[in-house]
Amino acid sequence: MSDIIIKDVSHAYETEKVLADINLTIHSGEFFTLLGPSGCGKTTLLRVLAGLIRPSEGRIFAGDTDITELEPEKRNMGLVFQNYALFPNMTVKENIAYGLKIRKYPKHEIEEKCSYYMELSGLSDLRGRKITELSGGQQQRVAIARALVIEPQMLLLDEPMSNLDVALRVKMREEIRTIQRKVGITTLFITHDQQEALSISDRIAVMKNGNVLQTGAPKEIYDNPNQEFVANFVGASNRIEKAVYGKFGIAEKEDVPYVFMRPEQMKLCRDAADGVRVKIENMKFLGVYFEYEVSDGEYEYSVIEINRGGGHTGWTIGDTAYLTCKIPEKERKRSQEEGA
Ligand SMILES: Nc1ncnc2c1ncn2[C@@H]1O[C@H](COP(=O)(O)OP(=O)(O)OP(=O)(O)O)[C@@H](O)[C@H]1O
Ligand SMILES: [Mg+2]
Repeated sequence: MSDIIIKDVSHAYETEKVLADINLTIHSGEFFTLLGPSGCGKTTLLRVLAGLIRPSEGRIFAGDTDITELEPEKRNMGLVFQNYALFPNMTVKENIAYGLKIRKYPKHEIEEKCSYYMELSGLSDLRGRKITELSGGQQQRVAIARALVIEPQMLLLDEPMSNLDVALRVKMREEIRTIQRKVGITTLFITHDQQEALSISDRIAVMKNGNVLQTGAPKEIYDNPNQEFVANFVGASNRIEKAVYGKFGIAEKEDVPYVFMRPEQMKLCRDAADGVRVKIENMKFLGVYFEYEVSDGEYEYSVIEINRGGGHTGWTIGDTAYLTCKIPEKERKRSQEEGA
């Protein structure tokens, strides 16, 4: 398998520009996710890769080979769409075998490959069932096995779990990742769910309005978002203005007018020596954690406290508290050095 390279790709439907100069390399064997809000161009980019849309500008390469003009059938990509597009009146086995039949594989090879991918996807016992007799999760497995059986150079998954309930989504994303690792197939996955993206990807590209804003490993994107949209799209965040760096003990950086601090990096204390005086404006109990909205009169902040049992952390709306940031170690060192 080779890297898939998207070079200077732009696309407009009639006059509306929906992809603006996209440059991405998806490495061989990588699980790569496009994450972004509805309408940002994720499906359009996937369709460009699949060859279903010819981009207005730019090229697509598989390794050194330019595949921009190649017909979809010749690209050898396995596609799974949101609605699966399975043949409802065929059995599980017939659905999976279909792609091999039209490619005129010999019968024994069809049997072998189908058995292997049904086993891999946990479908062996369901091989004779009709699609209409399967649950949503089972249908999704069929769609993935059907895409994998042709042994494509790349798997393209467009929100394959949006029809499933939350618990099943979590289970299925683990299954997809396990199968992907086992097969070692390069995968492009689309979602607008940040947790899903963080939990299964090797790398993520965050998109907005046809642009890629940031590309990186999940932890990199979460810990070091390069702009406000990314910070807020991959989780909640507080924007701390330069004017109050001093109060929070944050080192001043010449080039940035503010820093982002995650709610779980902030802490409410009772001791006046610790941090900025705030009032608790609102609080929510969310099971795993408590979420507080606090204000110092000028700025508002969101703070998360893990629920460590006992059901209540002791704060109530209207309380005065002192807010601190858990500054990452490197920042703290820097601020000490600069203070010295
Ligand atoms: N065939 C089409 N003709 C004209 N405009 C289109 C067409 N398909 C999509 N668009 C527009 O292009 C933009 C990007 O659409 P796209 O389907 O790529 O977004 P998306 O990120 O996949 O969104 P979602 O998360 O809702 O699936 C949208 O503004 C959409 O209305
Ligand atoms: Mg889409």
